[in-house]
Amino acid sequence: MALQTDGIVVKNERIKPLYFLLTIYCPPIANEIKTGQFIMLKVSDNSSPLLRRPFSVYKCYPASHPEKKKRGCLLILYKKVGKGTHKMTEFKKGQKVNVIGPLGNGFSLPPLPSSTHIILIGGGVGIVSLYSLAEVLGSHNLFVFIGGKTKDDILCEEDFKKLNASKIFIATEDGSLGYEGTVINLFLSQIKIFKKRESQYIYSCGPVEMLKELAREVKFKGVDCQASLEARMGCGFGACWGCVVKTNDLNTPYQRICKEGPVFNLKDIVWE
Ligand SMILES: Cc1cc2nc3c(=O)[nH]c(=O)nc-3n(C[C@H](O)[C@H](O)[C@H](O)COP(=O)(O)OP(=O)(O)OC[C@H]3O[C@@H](n4cnc5c(N)ncnc54)[C@H](O)[C@@H]3O)c2cc1C
Ligand code: FES
Repeated sequence: MALQTDGIVVKNERIKPLYFLLTIYCPPIANEIKTGQFIMLKVSDNSSPLLRRPFSVYKCYPASHPEKKKRGCLLILYKKVGKGTHKMTEFKKGQKVNVIGPLGNGFSLPPLPSSTHIILIGGGVGIVSLYSLAEVLGSHNLFVFIGGKTKDDILCEEDFKKLNASKIFIATEDGSLGYEGTVINLFLSQIKIFKKRESQYIYSCGPVEMLKELAREVKFKGVDCQASLEARMGCGFGACWGCVVKTNDLNTPYQRICKEGPVFNLKDIVWE
């Protein structure tokens, strides 16, 4: 169940020109949160901006973690894009931050044959939630596609290397690192590696346009794909209906990304 609590900033450091790594000591949420769930962070002490901002948890160290020093910590990898994330860059060590979480339904882990190729496709900061998933999945037969506009938007590559992922593919739209083009085009160019559709299972997270393109491909090929959707969120816990997406569920066609999601089966989404 979601709770609202204060955490304490342990560290807040710039790791790339526009990207920051925030460590918050917050044991109640670190002990509970599952991969693909998210938190809503209060980014300011005053009313500007008023609304909390949603973030995935990149790394999480519950009370049972072997490294004592890390226990109780949540790591958020965030991109400075606007007012709220700019405020976050000013967070100082020792400062209190109010957090609501864990929120939403995260990734599910269906039993799959060991021969299945698990394919992770992340665009921009979307790769963050896929990294937390990879930590749970393990490295066996793990194929990771990381995309961004430029090389400065490529995140978590070293993390996936440390996890011993079977193969890591990089795409940048300006060609400054790896394949030149979108991460979906890169994935399609490599599709021959994954021969049978029954032996593929995809997890994805990234901008809407990227997921729309992926949805067309997985529908065409009949491959299963869970995707974590992004949306601007008013409340983050199902009250305002500001984050709905249309699905092909006849009983509840409009579902809340924050409550029924953020993870959906891509074949269930009706793109408008
Ligand atoms: C479930 C979930 C998990 C997320 N996890 C992460 C994460 O791990 N790291 C991270 O950096 N970001 C993450 N985001 C996105 C993050 O919440 C937004 O970047 C943030 O709220 C922007 O706040 P802001 O005040 O800085 O930007 P604003 O001033 O509100 O907006 C600046 C620009 O960013 C765009 N924008 C704002 N919010 C979103 C959004 N939710 N989706 C798409 N575009 C948006 C706006 O359209 C505008 O162009 C996540 C979003 C969701 C819904
Ligand atoms: S953000 Fe309020 S219902 Fe989803």
